[in-house]
Amino acid sequence: MDSISWTVIETQLDATRLHPQETVFTLGNGYLGTRGSFEEGYPGDCPATLIHGVYNDVPITHTELANCPDWLPLVIIVAGEKFSLSQGRILAYQRQLDLRLGLLSRDVRWCSPSGHTIDFHFERFVSLASQHVMAIRCQVTSVDFVGEIEVQSSFNSDRHIRGVKHWNVLNQGGSNNTFWLQAETTHSGVELGMAARLLCSEGDIPMQFQGTFGHPTLTTTFQAQPGQTVTLEKVVTVFTSRESDTPTEAAQKLLTELPTYASLLAAHVAAWANLWQDCDIIIEGDVKAQLAVRYNLFQLLVAAPRYDDRVSIPPKTLSGFVYSGHIFWDTEIFVVPFLTLTQPDLARNLLTYRYHTLPGARRKAQEAGYEGAMYAWESAGTGDEVTPRWVPSVKSGEMVRIWCGDIELHITTDVAYAVWHYWQATGDDHWMRRYGTEILLETAVFWGSRVEWNADSHCYEINDVIGPDENHEHVNNNAFTNGMVQWHLQTALSVWNWLQQEDSDRASELQQALNLTPERLQQWANITGHLKFSQDPDTGLIEQFDGFFQLEDVNLAEYEPRTKSMQAILGIEETNQRQILKQPDVLMFLYLLRQGVDRQTLQSNWDYYTQRTDHNYGSSLGPAIHAILGCELDKPAEAYTHFMRAAMVDLEDVRGNAGEGIHAASAGGLWQSVVFGFGGIQISNEGPIANPHLPPGWTRLQFRLQWRNQWYEFDMQQSAITGQQSVMVSTPTPHTPIPSAKIQGVIFDLDGVLTDTADFHYLGWKQLADEEGIPFSWEANEAMRGLPRRDSLLHILGNRPATEEQIQDMMERKNRYYLELIKEMTPANLLPGVLPLLKELRAAGIKVALGSSSKNADLVIRRLGIVDQLDAIADGYSVERPKPAPDLFLHAADLLHLAPEQCMVVEDAGAGVEAALAAGMWAVGLGPVERVGEAHVVLSTLEGVYWRDLLAKVTQSAQHLGIRQQIKV
Ligand code: BGC
Repeated sequence: MDSISWTVIETQLDATRLHPQETVFTLGNGYLGTRGSFEEGYPGDCPATLIHGVYNDVPITHTELANCPDWLPLVIIVAGEKFSLSQGRILAYQRQLDLRLGLLSRDVRWCSPSGHTIDFHFERFVSLASQHVMAIRCQVTSVDFVGEIEVQSSFNSDRHIRGVKHWNVLNQGGSNNTFWLQAETTHSGVELGMAARLLCSEGDIPMQFQGTFGHPTLTTTFQAQPGQTVTLEKVVTVFTSRESDTPTEAAQKLLTELPTYASLLAAHVAAWANLWQDCDIIIEGDVKAQLAVRYNLFQLLVAAPRYDDRVSIPPKTLSGFVYSGHIFWDTEIFVVPFLTLTQPDLARNLLTYRYHTLPGARRKAQEAGYEGAMYAWESAGTGDEVTPRWVPSVKSGEMVRIWCGDIELHITTDVAYAVWHYWQATGDDHWMRRYGTEILLETAVFWGSRVEWNADSHCYEINDVIGPDENHEHVNNNAFTNGMVQWHLQTALSVWNWLQQEDSDRASELQQALNLTPERLQQWANITGHLKFSQDPDTGLIEQFDGFFQLEDVNLAEYEPRTKSMQAILGIEETNQRQILKQPDVLMFLYLLRQGVDRQTLQSNWDYYTQRTDHNYGSSLGPAIHAILGCELDKPAEAYTHFMRAAMVDLEDVRGNAGEGIHAASAGGLWQSVVFGFGGIQISNEGPIANPHLPPGWTRLQFRLQWRNQWYEFDMQQSAITGQQSVMVSTPTPHTPIPSAKIQGVIFDLDGVLTDTADFHYLGWKQLADEEGIPFSWEANEAMRGLPRRDSLLHILGNRPATEEQIQDMMERKNRYYLELIKEMTPANLLPGVLPLLKELRAAGIKVALGSSSKNADLVIRRLGIVDQLDAIADGYSVERPKPAPDLFLHAADLLHLAPEQCMVVEDAGAGVEAALAAGMWAVGLGPVERVGEAHVVLSTLEGVYWRDLLAKVTQSAQHLGIRQQIKV
């Protein structure tokens, strides 16, 4: 694998480019993002760690993602002088981001002001395998210095956003080699706990905890010798009250359970390898494009929430403060298509966020005097509108009225569009019934109340809006908005018909809730037939809004060269009066509904609007879309220029604003421009088909798409010798039939899967251990996870002698205590997600068994109230040999009358996963990769897990195995 096309390299430090480079080197894992600031700091730097959903109240923009306490600080002091790139001399420097591994590293040879030379190698990652874990390793090698080096490892809770501080520190502490911090947002009451450990390769050297309040710090020292390397490892955990009632305890607890830095890194790298297998795009013949595409995909993947469906991706991902972490149409229209066709679970998370924020959208509609749900132009935690109304002008400081929150309405339809396409591409009927239909229909209700009937011209109109081209405000009948609303209402009618046939209960529920009367449905049909849309019947040219063609025309070439947007040059009012587009509007509409657009219409509108668009300094959302349409019109060279504008927006800071954060929509658009543009992918009823338009120089383009649970691989080639447009396309090859389709039964482990009896076991063992005078801790209990009772007892006893009689007695006592304790159990002790999944399995006709080594399993499932949901029980009395022997699961399969390969096992213990694999079954591991990584599929919880997703995941994993086997052959 060549590293050039996977590695972003910076060979020189340019202090004037500190902020854009911090953005470029952002890391993340779908839970948090951390800008690429230096561990030791730099004057004027802008370190930031943002966590999805952690908003705090602020003036003007209402709420913003809080800049969390900084976990990076690691300061090295050489003979009293702090290692810093702003002092002493830098003799060698290289920083690199390895996209394949998700690893940021830096090599510096530094000469201190007093002339000591030291080599530093830093590396850092934000774990993709375990979302609450981050780590830094620093290797210090003295070149010529003999003497003491001091290390200070800390958190800094002083981080702010434009002077606004978001955190009140509640508490902090540290001992031995660990420290921790507890903080709470100043207004929204989100609590955060962070913990860290510091390890030094010098062994057990003393460490002191100190630091002022808000800066917990651990310091230590070691002796440097020329040629010797000392390694420091800072491993950090973080939780917020969004995931835990006691985030500080959760962070501390997880920290104690973590394996070595090397194991954490290995799990992280393995997780990335898996992800790239699905998402990578290979471009041959253009190294720059190859790297840029991977870079943009990397930044999307680190921003996409993996386990949370109440958050979404902001326009600057989790890498910058601009737009306050609010959610725009950028996500649904630009980013979601990439995820829908490569990581549908993640796309679904983002769309479910829109479901959860429907209440805010309802409030917005109601406050504005309409029915249904009207999505916020800018949305945050609740879905209420959080677009600022007035903002100070950068130029004059005067307050400028922002109208988008009031009248940029197309967002409502953009969400519906993404829902529809997700459903089409995945066939996820379950989600559509439960969530998607409500979004699509309730937003349709809004449009029904928003359109106006114009009796004179005998048509419906939508007046006083802003279209995607924000250079023009308060316009009537914006083509994009009207065209998309027409699509929306048509689609709502067909979805409604589908739902009535598919799920009459859900249909009547929605019929009542949304008052879907025959009259309302008839009105939707009328609107679709009579919504104003101005298009020249001969040329196909569409007017962007009423009166656009009457505005003053401008030759943009006359303003070149320029370094600012046309709006910045002419001012808001003047631009409003001219035919200058900030971003595609009519063309955007033609792109989204491209399947019904004829070539002449596309050509006429391209010819008219492209030259009137501010490609370089208007919106960064535009170039990728122009690239795609350029391909469609057989203009590969022109398309490539637009493509590169999008590709390099952050890597080369082509707009001069990369410092503000990653351009997420541009990155998502870039994926679309490769796949739909150069790859020419169209989605037909039979799946994706290709009609490539490779740009000059590209000899090969390869990628995979997932469509309705099936992967399709595309391999497109172009002759490099003749330079001809002779493109070879390998037809989509669906993978071999899916083994998971045969799965007919699911066997659940009990503890840690259906319920968590860990607390009860712990208390039982603790009582016994106390009586026996044996020290016993929660950590010791954790180490016994999955072990049968006897092995657990032997583990506790260690090398303390005990006769068989005593062993039996102790086992019996512990069991008595435990049985007493579990009498307290109720159905509330079922773990999140279990009951809906069991019900879904029942409904789908899948057999369900329990496969637990517990001898009390029967009692526990009775207390949990799920006896009726199980077809068979295999427990501690069923077989002789415990897990990891396959016997228990094989017995369960027998009871279900199924063959092993027809069974899926859900397990939380390594031994259980091993047993499932040994039985020849499909294994789903619950918990960290370090523990259950051998399973075919690893999940953190069953919450929000649907049966069809589990099947899809196993399918995927089966395909990966197939691919690996193919490679081996
Ligand atoms: C664009 C919008 C976009 C927003 C956030 C604006 O400049 O005009 O289309 O949603 O930025 O990226």
